[in-house]
Amino acid sequence: MRATRSLGLSLAVLLAAACGDTGGSDSVIDGVDAGGVGGNGAGGEGTGGTGTGGTGGTGAGGNGAGVGPFCDVVAQVFSACTSCHKPGGNYPDLMGDAAAAVVGLNSQLHAERPMVVAGDPAASLLYRKVAGTMAADEGELMPQTGMLAEGRIAVLRTWIEAGAPTTCEAPVVPTGGMVAGDYHPVGYEAAAVHGLELKTGAQDCRECHGATLEGGSGPSCDSCHEDGWRTNCTYCHGGTDGENGAPPRDLRGATVRDELTFRAHTEHTTERNHIAWDCDQCHMKPMDVLSEGHVFDATPGKSEVDFSGGLSPAGDYDGNGGCSNLYCHGTGRAYGDIAHTAARPSCSGCHTAPPRTGEHGQHSREGIACDQCHSETAQGSAAIGNVANHVNGTVDVAIAVAGFTYQAGTCTGTCHGENHRGRRW
Ligand code: HEC
Ligand code: HEC
Ligand code: HEC
Ligand code: HEC
Ligand code: HEC
Ligand code: HEC
Ligand code: HEC
Repeated sequence: MRATRSLGLSLAVLLAAACGDTGGSDSVIDGVDAGGVGGNGAGGEGTGGTGTGGTGGTGAGGNGAGVGPFCDVVAQVFSACTSCHKPGGNYPDLMGDAAAAVVGLNSQLHAERPMVVAGDPAASLLYRKVAGTMAADEGELMPQTGMLAEGRIAVLRTWIEAGAPTTCEAPVVPTGGMVAGDYHPVGYEAAAVHGLELKTGAQDCRECHGATLEGGSGPSCDSCHEDGWRTNCTYCHGGTDGENGAPPRDLRGATVRDELTFRAHTEHTTERNHIAWDCDQCHMKPMDVLSEGHVFDATPGKSEVDFSGGLSPAGDYDGNGGCSNLYCHGTGRAYGDIAHTAARPSCSGCHTAPPRTGEHGQHSREGIACDQCHSETAQGSAAIGNVANHVNGTVDVAIAVAGFTYQAGTCTGTCHGENHRGRRW
């Protein structure tokens, strides 16, 4: 069952995703790129249903566009336009089904200038305004927020050069006939089909392709794949924001933030006010496809969160992007909670700044900045100067004043004109 998806539906899904995305259009666009999985009934529908709460709407079908230049344009160009070019917005409407109709429209400003001339990008107003080659009387560059990446402009050019078709192909193009006795359906060799089945755990490939995937009744996976695929973490996930394998690019292909199983991967795995965490803060980190607990485990197609190797070993995960009992989101004394839908916490989002403990209040009232006492962590009172000491499992006290010491809750030395000898914190 590999029916051609209705273009209308694909567009509706894509554009709905575009509208929901507040993080900029990049992710929308990548989301569609990485999807490319239309029809496969078994892998798509079936596993979509068992998806985690967070990805409920992101079955394989959800990201699946057809293939072809028009679908590419919708996904990679028009997705950056529909915040304005929508029903009731700026002319022309590029939302949903209306996108296809733009081919027959002329400019409102200059009725004789066509939006799209099949085969001729330079004669197409829409192209000129996106490529920045519009005439002086043709208004502003589109999108108004800044020029699209060259790759996306090229997608628009390719589409027009190809005659501006407004339909797309079914995503899976069968290359051979259905051979009697074959186990897999025609078209299964397409990455978007068998790759998705592997990632969603639709069946256990080892049963026939061998325990090490080097061949059984079915061929070795290595017979087609390039060397190194088994240990290449971006072969199956990640690759959108970085090369460490952490999504975006979820198992089902989603890269749109709101559709991700866990939206905060990038924030955690890149340096912020903390070091770039490795995966083992929250997962058992696998070494390759066959690592225990990785692809072939008791819950295929579903990732496992395991805090035991990190700074928050007592943490709990609610299965839906919500974490509790975390050291990392706590105060340094008490543990805290957070959900992946929350805004990025400010300096007073985990502990108050200053904390309500010890003599913090008194010193804060005297205008003494955090870095006077936490000189190896903070910079002033609102920034982290040394990320390696922040959220590292230790409260680092390092008094900036020469000769002043802090030990086991007791201060000694003179600061802001006061002698602190033996004072308790
Ligand atoms: C932030 C809002 C905004 C975004 C995003 C935006 N536009 Fe526009 N668009 C406008 C406005 C306002 C006008 C009218 C002024 C002008 O023509 O410069 C316009 C005009 C146009 C026109 C000319 C209409 C005419 O009748 O001459 C075209 C074509 C167009 N936009 C295409 C696009 C495309 C393609 C994108 C995405 C790649 C895009 N726009 C993104 C606001 C936007
Ligand atoms: C007939 C050739 C062939 C065989 C056999 C094959 N693959 Fe693939 N597979 C491909 C091609 C081609 C791609 C596209 C990417 C590439 O070139 O490596 C791909 C992509 C994939 C992907 C998707 C990566 C992504 O983009 O997310 C996965 C997962 C995958 N294969 C798993 C397997 C497994 C597991 C086996 C063995 C059970 C297997 N493949 C056997 C040809 C094959
Ligand atoms: C029940 C046995 C069985 C299972 C389970 C199985 N395969 Fe296969 N596979 C085969 C056989 C047999 C072939 C040889 C061609 C055929 O019969 O379709 C094959 C061929 C393939 C090919 C080559 C393309 C083709 O259609 O011939 C790919 C790719 C592939 N399998 C991937 C996978 C992946 C990925 C999984 C797990 C998600 C998987 N297979 C699970 C038996 C199986
Ligand atoms: C701060 C904690 C945290 C860190 C660090 C982290 N992850 Fe995750 N990851 C999660 C959570 C939570 C989920 C969602 C689990 C669920 O609900 O299924 C997840 C899910 C995943 C998934 C499955 C996504 C899907 O499609 O469902 C993959 C793959 C993954 N992580 C890979 C990584 C890799 C690779 C790294 C390291 C480079 C990493 N993660 C680092 C918390 C983390
Ligand atoms: C052939 C595809 C493939 C490759 C290659 C791959 N993964 Fe995965 N990964 C998966 C699948 C499928 C899952 C979800 C499986 C599950 O847990 O049932 C997953 C899940 C994960 C998770 C979430 C925790 C878990 O095991 O559920 C992490 C972390 C992860 N992978 C890291 C990596 C790292 C690091 C690499 C590179 C060494 C890597 N992956 C390579 C397919 C792959
Ligand atoms: C995600 C939660 C979180 C956020 C957001 C956060 N902190 Fe922290 N902070 C902690 C935890 C947990 C500690 C406990 C000590 C440790 O492990 O470093 C801490 C400790 C500190 C300390 C004590 C010195 C030290 O090395 O332990 C200072 C100073 C500090 N934070 C300043 C800041 C500032 C400034 C900001 C905003 C830029 C900020 N924090 C944002 C969680 C957070
Ligand atoms: C006068 C010195 C001083 C200043 C100024 C100061 N701290 Fe502290 N801070 C301490 C001491 C001492 C501790 C206790 C360390 C211990 O437990 O041994 C501490 C502990 C902490 C902790 C760990 C949790 C707790 O409540 O004990 C955090 C978080 C923290 N400070 C953040 C801040 C932030 C944020 C600022 C600035 C807004 C700040 N501190 C300013 C001296 C100071």
